[in-house]
Amino acid sequence: MLKPLLATFVLAASALLSGPAQADPIIIKFSHVVADNTPKGQAAIKFKELAEKKLPGKVKVEVFPNSQLFGDAKELEALLLGDVQFIAPSLSKFDRYTKKIQLFDLPFLFDDVAAVDRFQASAAGQGLLTAMKGKGLLGLAYWHNGMKELSTNKDKLQRPEDVKGLKFRIQASDVLEAQFRALGANPQKMAFSEVYQALQTGVVDGQENTWSNIYSQKFFEVQKTIATTNHGVIDYMVVTNAKWWDGLPADVRKGLSEAMAEATAYGNGIANEFNERDRKRIAEGGKAKVVTLSKEDVAAWRKAMEPVWKKFEGDIGKDLIDAALKSNSK
Ligand code: LMR
Repeated sequence: MLKPLLATFVLAASALLSGPAQADPIIIKFSHVVADNTPKGQAAIKFKELAEKKLPGKVKVEVFPNSQLFGDAKELEALLLGDVQFIAPSLSKFDRYTKKIQLFDLPFLFDDVAAVDRFQASAAGQGLLTAMKGKGLLGLAYWHNGMKELSTNKDKLQRPEDVKGLKFRIQASDVLEAQFRALGANPQKMAFSEVYQALQTGVVDGQENTWSNIYSQKFFEVQKTIATTNHGVIDYMVVTNAKWWDGLPADVRKGLSEAMAEATAYGNGIANEFNERDRKRIAEGGKAKVVTLSKEDVAAWRKAMEPVWKKFEGDIGKDLIDAALKSNSK
């Protein structure tokens, strides 16, 4: 009887003597699926540096690249379960949560990343950041990667008829599925981490991606031809768990918001440069042939993919499509 009492007394006394307890930092896990040496990889590292500098001792940010912690199939669920606090999936991977974000996958919607940027900064674009709050997801920022190119394991890749009957890996997006069906090809939804092997073993013949992803994942080593279709965009939304975010101490939320804004400016500032750098590396490396398409070639791809727009206009909303189109005309 006496012993436990004594132990309690000793514990209480030592707690008093050691002064106020130093709170442990909040551990923030940031998981993503690409390599460090990409626009998203660098922006995530920058966010960690800035957040820890602005909130010394209060937060510790751990970045997990390359699907190390969670891949495409799990990361959104993991965020909602609280197993990770930040993820930045491509805008193609949210269609289970809101149909509106399918907008970004419409082929040949945006002329270039500058147009994507203008749309994202507009009221319509900013509105999409909170469109999934009811489902527990809060968007904090858009991060750029770049325009998509098409690649295959065939020698010829110039016109839509060259991909008829070929199998393509796609991100988990119904719009992208319709896009390849419109071309008479066979799309297959697949996690990013599985693409290299699928290309290497011939499970699929081709894929679509940005130069920085094609380079950092070495897709160019297992593809014969890459055509500069620029037919769509791969960009990201950095999302957090809305409930977790709202429950943070106000000063932490403010510091993280500032770090996110600065990391976004940094990452979006380097994205074009990274893709251009990797395009050159691939073209000069000579492992895959890079085919620069003419205006007429591009027009043929655009025409072949056109039916996709009608199919998704109802779900996305004509107003949103018009707002996106307006961003092209600056
Ligand atoms: C893909 O799955 O191809 C891309 O979304 C990967 C990424 O995050 O850039």
